[in-house]
Amino acid sequence: METKVALLGFGTVGKGTYRALTENADEIERKTGKKVTVKKILEIDPKVRACGLAPEEIFCTDIEEILSDPEISIVAEIIGGMTIALDFILRALRAGKHVVTPNKAVVAANYDLLQKTARENGVQIKYEASVGGAIPVIETIRKSLVANKITKVQGIVNGTTNYILTKMEEDGMSYADALKQAQENGFAEKDPTADVEGIDSANKLSILMIECFGIYIKPTDLDRTGISGLTRDDLRLAAQHGCKMKLLASAERKEDGTVEAFVRPTEVPLSNPLAGVRNEFNAIYLYCNMADRILLTGRGAGKDPTGSAMAADIVSLA
Ligand code: HSE
Repeated sequence: METKVALLGFGTVGKGTYRALTENADEIERKTGKKVTVKKILEIDPKVRACGLAPEEIFCTDIEEILSDPEISIVAEIIGGMTIALDFILRALRAGKHVVTPNKAVVAANYDLLQKTARENGVQIKYEASVGGAIPVIETIRKSLVANKITKVQGIVNGTTNYILTKMEEDGMSYADALKQAQENGFAEKDPTADVEGIDSANKLSILMIECFGIYIKPTDLDRTGISGLTRDDLRLAAQHGCKMKLLASAERKEDGTVEAFVRPTEVPLSNPLAGVRNEFNAIYLYCNMADRILLTGRGAGKDPTGSAMAADIVSLA
């Protein structure tokens, strides 16, 4: 049986998702018995449509063409940003399409509305790629750790800032040059303020708290500090203390039911494996009451790693 999918947007993650679904189609079919085909791609930029990475005839410029196509059962929102992305996701859910998105800002800010809309329309919204890039953290929490009470989640969940800190520390690169490189590599958000001010990490932490604790705290209500105020002296000082400076996202559910959560630059001792997480890699510790501590790590940003997580959600829905 063939499942037809539409991609909304063909930027960095769109290209990665398309590549995973097409180049690894045989692998997907071997593992699941499912054939998953990208039928349409919404993309308004003619230069992108002509990039040669997907056949030009599958591109369209009107979302209605996708929403009104009864063959398309899954829509991947990969345009990014807030307003239009949310509008497109809601319209797709209301049209009875399952939705997959890497858009942590939209998911974290509108969690209840998105779940309610999906429920009312008998479909699902999945967002594995929204946290930790390629790392299958949400599936792990929901499936492999289903019989655990998770008491704490802590880690590095932003690739751009980890890349900047690594380059400043190891190569003596300036903050501005390292950020530029992270942007060129396709790690940063459209507006990198979200990365460097810890907003992206707060969005991801908000999603992790829902998954781990069933508690929703708006990302704007989280205690948050980014890395824009850090200097190379701060990194040198951390080194003198036998530590690496990392932007940590952390949430702990206390015995009394309260939650302590923050995003902030933290000196991490070299003995902690998080100190050895370099460049755009992410790593997330899950503290569980049965499995004990689990550490998941992998590439937290970029075209193919994020495309891998997007494709996994699409195939799972198929
Ligand atoms: N800007 C994000 C990051 C992309 O650097 O981690 C992946 O979510």
